[in-house]
Amino acid sequence: MISLTQAAPATVSVDALVVVLAERPEGLVPLGDVPDEIRTLVSGSAQVLGLTGAADEVHRVPAHRLRARSVVLTGAGKASTPESLRRAVGAATRSLAGLTSAAVVLPDDEPETLTAVAEGALLGAYAYTRYHGQGSSSTTKPALGEVQLLLGHRPTKAETRSVQRAQVLAEAVHAARDLVNAAPNDLYPEAFADVARTATKGLKGVKITVLDEKALAAGSFGGLVGVGQGSARPPRLVKVAYSPGRAKRSVALVGKGITFDSGGISLKPSADMDEMKSDMAGAATVLSTVVAAARLNLPIAVTAWCALAENMPSGTAQRPSDVLTMRDGTTVEVLNTDAEGRLAMADVLVAAVEETPDLVVDVATLTGAQVVALGRRVAAVMGTDDAREEVVAAATASGEAFWPMPLPEDMKSGLKSKVADLANIGERWGGMLLAGLFLAEFVGDTPWAHLDVAGPAYNSKTAYGYTPLGGTGMGVRTLLTLLESRAER
Ligand code: BES
Ligand code: MN
Ligand code: ZN
Repeated sequence: MISLTQAAPATVSVDALVVVLAERPEGLVPLGDVPDEIRTLVSGSAQVLGLTGAADEVHRVPAHRLRARSVVLTGAGKASTPESLRRAVGAATRSLAGLTSAAVVLPDDEPETLTAVAEGALLGAYAYTRYHGQGSSSTTKPALGEVQLLLGHRPTKAETRSVQRAQVLAEAVHAARDLVNAAPNDLYPEAFADVARTATKGLKGVKITVLDEKALAAGSFGGLVGVGQGSARPPRLVKVAYSPGRAKRSVALVGKGITFDSGGISLKPSADMDEMKSDMAGAATVLSTVVAAARLNLPIAVTAWCALAENMPSGTAQRPSDVLTMRDGTTVEVLNTDAEGRLAMADVLVAAVEETPDLVVDVATLTGAQVVALGRRVAAVMGTDDAREEVVAAATASGEAFWPMPLPEDMKSGLKSKVADLANIGERWGGMLLAGLFLAEFVGDTPWAHLDVAGPAYNSKTAYGYTPLGGTGMGVRTLLTLLESRAER
């Protein structure tokens, strides 16, 4: 929980007072209206404490003449962009897991700073504790309880609204992270559908529809059925439609929801296969986004489509060389059952496009090639020119890293099949683009953006800034920002 307060930094009674440090040409600078004790500490003891102000440098020291019980000094690095502040404050609140309360000294009084600090504080205050028992081997700490932002004056309407929005946004990101972090024995397609039912219960203007495996077969979802047929836990399509009465515009969001990707008969190597519980991150992102849009009452219609299946090898699994007929009649030769995401997504893109939305955005942990191209922190966006640029703009505004990638028309020939309209794989090189080109076959002329978040959706290495280990919630901020700007124009 977050709140705005008039209290002064020296008098606020909390477990920790958070102060942002910046590396400036003139030296190390604590930002904002910082008590003298902290100014003196920073100027006098930076060297002995090893303070440099670099990003992800967090120090906690005892407080003496303050009401706060400790001071957290968190580095923002050289730049003080909203995103560098978001990360600095997030790293601080992340370091305070297990404590009850913190207050943040605002670095300046720009409205964007308030937004970034509120978001960073909440995004960093996350812990996934579902599987930590009560036994003596339990080491988990719950997330920091509450955060006060030291505004110094009575909040204006705009300031209150900005913080409420940050709260809804952060809850959406946390919900997406929770879904990714859930173990795949607990989170299978029907279980995801249950989470969606609960998350949308009582939300105004929201209608949820769940198609089970029979309905999917009857609806000619050949791709989603093919991918899901090897699992004892059958596939689902979850559609969450938010339609406020006054909406003139509409956006469809399609998410890849492979609750576990073993590769199927084209089995993956066992090293790191555990990370494939995150293969439903796209579905988690689109579900969380539509819920946030509804909670914020955005005047735009948003439909989230979650393509849910478990990709498993078994006697009923699809085989390499199987031919599937997709919802639009396209036939696809399955040459590799591990290229399952595009099969599941294709049908659902077709269904989404049937409703003639103004824009389709899909989110998928689609290719290892995305991670090769851009690494673990930068996601890719492909699609029609305007849609791709719109996503880049929304990503930049929200502080998420999405980089534009091309869909070269002439590479399409790489998806030729000897027996069907398309093959589900081509050569290895440019694998991210080939997967994008495959999806492009199913969106027709609808403006469309494809977000490949394979690397950034799941953090298996080390936490940084406001980004925890495990599910990151990548994409929620960009999509919500995109919806907000579409709703406005
Ligand atoms: N879910 C994976 C992609 C992935 C890889 C996500 C690493 C996150 C981290 C996807 O289903 C997959 O297996 N893709 C294959 C496609 C290949 C067989 C053409 C890949 O990228 O190796
Ligand atoms: Mn796969
Ligand atoms: Zn996959």
